Amino acid sequence: MARFTTENLEKASEIISLYPEPRSALIPLCHLAQAQDGWLTPEAIGQIADLIGLSPAEVKGTASFYDMFHTEQVGEYLVGVCTNISCMLGGAYELLEHCEDRLGIRCGQTTKDGKFTLEEMECMAGCDGPPCVTVNYRYFLGLDNSKFDQLVDDLESGRLDEEVPKHGTVFRNARQGGLRANKGEGQTK
Ligand code: FES
Repeated sequence: MARFTTENLEKASEIISLYPEPRSALIPLCHLAQAQDGWLTPEAIGQIADLIGLSPAEVKGTASFYDMFHTEQVGEYLVGVCTNISCMLGGAYELLEHCEDRLGIRCGQTTKDGKFTLEEMECMAGCDGPPCVTVNYRYFLGLDNSKFDQLVDDLESGRLDEEVPKHGTVFRNARQGGLRANKGEGQTK
């Protein structure tokens, strides 16, 4: 899927209405598109640009600044292994090597079935439980090789569906309502 579904297009209009300037909705719209497709497709970037009066280059330029937005396709489960100092001392490089073997891919690659993408990460503030692994930004601390294998099995079987939503859903709770932009008197633009 590349462009917003009808339902998400309605949500997009709703989001835009929350701001005095349509362009202020850029980041929430990127979240919406990524939650829908798992990554920011060129079509979604173009549609967001149209909706808020920016160029696709401006949308992509902003989104690509943030690590958690993906402008290239990634797998359903984005597995990140931190290799910064605390995790390195806790065996992160050894675990990373095992992750590559278990998933049959190198760092930065996606499995052929589109299920897993493996990334080496900078510190993710899980330093007290090294090595720190995240899957779709949910933390799994202190994993060894066999616990990682179990984690992969659980993800593949759907046993962790509640805990680890499909990729693209960065946040658990979407904003429901709240303040709206002042479209009445006193607004300068
Ligand atoms: S050093 Fe790995 S999470 Fe901080």
